[in-house]
Amino acid sequence: MKTDRSSPIVILTGAGISAESGLATFRDQGGLWEGHSIEDVATPQGFHKNPDLVFDFYNMRRAEAAKARPNAAHNALAALENAWEGDFLLITQNVDDLHEKAGSKRVLHMHGRLNSALCHECGSHQHWEGDLDRDCFCTSCSRPALRPDIVWFGEMPYDMDAIEEALGNAALFVAIGTSGTVYPAAGFVMAAASAGARTVEINLEATGNDLFEDHITGSASTAVPAFVNMLLGKA
Ligand code: APR
Repeated sequence: MKTDRSSPIVILTGAGISAESGLATFRDQGGLWEGHSIEDVATPQGFHKNPDLVFDFYNMRRAEAAKARPNAAHNALAALENAWEGDFLLITQNVDDLHEKAGSKRVLHMHGRLNSALCHECGSHQHWEGDLDRDCFCTSCSRPALRPDIVWFGEMPYDMDAIEEALGNAALFVAIGTSGTVYPAAGFVMAAASAGARTVEINLEATGNDLFEDHITGSASTAVPAFVNMLLGKA
């Protein structure tokens, strides 16, 4: 596939890109949604009902993400961004910071971030690394009103205006390691295709998602570096 280096690229990543860094996906065998109920730990209602259960769930994930290292797929995407002359946007559904640890700069975390806390009183976002609980104080309004800065089911994902604009201008849209089951991210391929973008899906297994023109099957840490080398003319 020949893509001019000045043409705009939009990349979407999901939990599958972080699987080889040791972070659990959601819907694979043994995934997070096997061990936890989405309603209990990933909805505003669940947080209201049992905040301590939700704090513990994200404290566990935050501690695991802090120890995790980026894999060759994260590193390849950082190299692609660095070498690309055209517009480049990396949208991630992931809440870990492995893209940033690999050196990616232009990253939009549409589902929030584990290393951030949100004040549900004043709305401020603040960098957060350790455990979070109901007694932690907001650094802006000083009230004990912090929650995990995660976009839960039923809440509006972040940065949708910037995402929609980038999809409308993309020449290439690549989805990596996502099951394509959660909207609005699952609809990005249609927005990109209707704007004339070439659409590519990279996944460990054939997803049968025929909305994509090209399907590359393989583990992210192998398939993504190979794909990036091909884009950069190094293959
Ligand atoms: N390499 C490439 N792809 C992989 C790998 C791997 N090593 N391991 C797993 N995958 C693929 C799986 O085949 C699957 O299609 O990654 C995908 C993971 O799918 P999900 O677990 O559904 O994760 P994701 O698509 O990111 O979920 C989207 O759902 O629950 C919400 O907010 C949560 O952001 C998440 C959203």
